[in-house]
Amino acid sequence: MNRQDLIRKFDKQARWYDKRRKKQAQGEWRRKLIRAAKGKVLEVAVGAGANFPFYGQEVEITAVDFSPEMLRKAKEAAAEYRLKANFILADVESLTFPPESFDTVVSTLSLCGYEDPVRVLSLFNRWCKRDGRILLMEHGISFVFPLAWLQKALDPLAYRWVGCHQNRDIMDIIRASGILVERAEHYWAGTVHLVWAKPNTNQE
Ligand SMILES: C[S@@+](CC[C@H](N)C(=O)[O-])C[C@H]1O[C@@H](n2cnc3c(N)ncnc32)[C@H](O)[C@@H]1O
Repeated sequence: MNRQDLIRKFDKQARWYDKRRKKQAQGEWRRKLIRAAKGKVLEVAVGAGANFPFYGQEVEITAVDFSPEMLRKAKEAAAEYRLKANFILADVESLTFPPESFDTVVSTLSLCGYEDPVRVLSLFNRWCKRDGRILLMEHGISFVFPLAWLQKALDPLAYRWVGCHQNRDIMDIIRASGILVERAEHYWAGTVHLVWAKPNTNQE
């Protein structure tokens, strides 16, 4: 799917994501993860700001998304929670920041969308301070065979429908990127992963 079609697809879903933000969907997992966010925070593929209810008032958020409608909803959410946030309309895969720009890099439900998720994680590695944290909540292929089979079978349809892949092995992608996992929790037959990681100082 070309970039413009993908952006339009997410634009159309912005109202639905905003409703989910208000209902605090996946709130328990988000709260658990986001409470580890400190200092200058980069949140990539922020969507409608689903994590915003869970940040402390002291963090400074830089939020990125390539969908103008998602970003518009995220700005409203930041105002509602009185967060210090600035917003960048950009494609995460072609974004640049100086090395070690952020204390925390947050990505929730975004590795399913990138063309090259391993490269995106290596960008997080570069942008995160050496003593910082990379916080992930991602969905992917199950470790339960019949479910994994179904996810693979439905992947082309799901990608066309919502713009996310269902068949990615998230823990493999994380391993390939070289970032260092400190703690990981797995839910729903391994389709959801919460990961607390730190940058790998042996990588650039
Ligand atoms: C599945 S939604 C997740 C939104 C939010 N992070 C959450 O947890 O609810 C994926 C988001 O990533 C954005 N996105 C996907 N690929 C992107 C890219 N290459 N650059 C920037 N944003 C992207 C979409 O516009 C959408 O807002």
